[in-house]
Amino acid sequence: MAGVRACPTAYLDGVFLPLEEARISPLDRGFLFGDGVYEVVPCYGGRPFLLERHLARLDRSLRAVGLPDPLGPAGWRHLAGELAARNGGGDLALYLQVTRGVAPRDHRFPAAPRPTVFAYANPLRPPPAEGGARAVLLEDLRWGRCDIKAISLLANVLARQAAHRRSADEAILVREGEVTEGAASNVFAVVEGVLLTPPRSPRLLPGVTRDLVLELAAEAGLPCREAPLPVGLVQRAEELWLTSSTREVVPVLALDGRPVGGGRPGPLWRRVHRLYQARKARWREGGRAGVPGTEPPGPAAAAGGAG
Ligand code: PDD
Repeated sequence: MAGVRACPTAYLDGVFLPLEEARISPLDRGFLFGDGVYEVVPCYGGRPFLLERHLARLDRSLRAVGLPDPLGPAGWRHLAGELAARNGGGDLALYLQVTRGVAPRDHRFPAAPRPTVFAYANPLRPPPAEGGARAVLLEDLRWGRCDIKAISLLANVLARQAAHRRSADEAILVREGEVTEGAASNVFAVVEGVLLTPPRSPRLLPGVTRDLVLELAAEAGLPCREAPLPVGLVQRAEELWLTSSTREVVPVLALDGRPVGGGRPGPLWRRVHRLYQARKARWREGGRAGVPGTEPPGPAAAAGGAG
């Protein structure tokens, strides 16, 4: 979303207001400590896509950091729908954030925290169908709870910037010889015709897009498995993909400057890309047909698991 102008209407602590009028205290623990969690929810045709899965993950993040849910599921659904509608509907990325609120600076939790809830929207422009990404491998220097969608993203920021300095779009992170995920994406590799992605663990975010891609691949009968990705395997993969709610499923065409799959998107990516686009189109059309704007949590979310 680099360089994209944000949508005009934001939400702060119960009030919709112009983004430029939103003000937060410098004593907010989000500002002082990065003490908070967030979600990014794509909307198509003004309808939040896979919202229930994002809300389930937000709930897990809040619980993991000991923050009470300030709105509850119905409140979040209402906020997401209103924020999309007040910004003209269409294709948007909703950003939802909860911090532990304003308090005198003290590492301990405040006795009676009043969480700050902030949300705003960005226009969402998916990557062009014929494009691809360049990636570099970098050491994963993050903490031990990457399954929590925490706003404290300094290590991710530094990794993405290091990738940018090397003319790459994403950093693929490596811990103890295995790929965990990207700085802001999950990673898939196709090795000997089988689609692989690392299993859920505290080392990576359980991506909503990741889970949907696994489900779409399984439904289509494509060979796929959750399995560790040693760096050597990734370096000789026939295809490499990045997934995220804002960039969908992007083929990596070069890794550390060397072409992946001959430098062109591979056949498995084409199939999954088509399935993903079809799923989006159905969701958008459901809106035109007046179907309610939410859907049940997916099997992965319902099953729980790490994160
Ligand atoms: N980031 N891993 C990390 C570290 C991420 O930050 C993200 C997404 C993902 C993909 O998760 P999902 O498919 O649920 O979007 C994986 C968002 C888009 C962001 O920070 O902007």
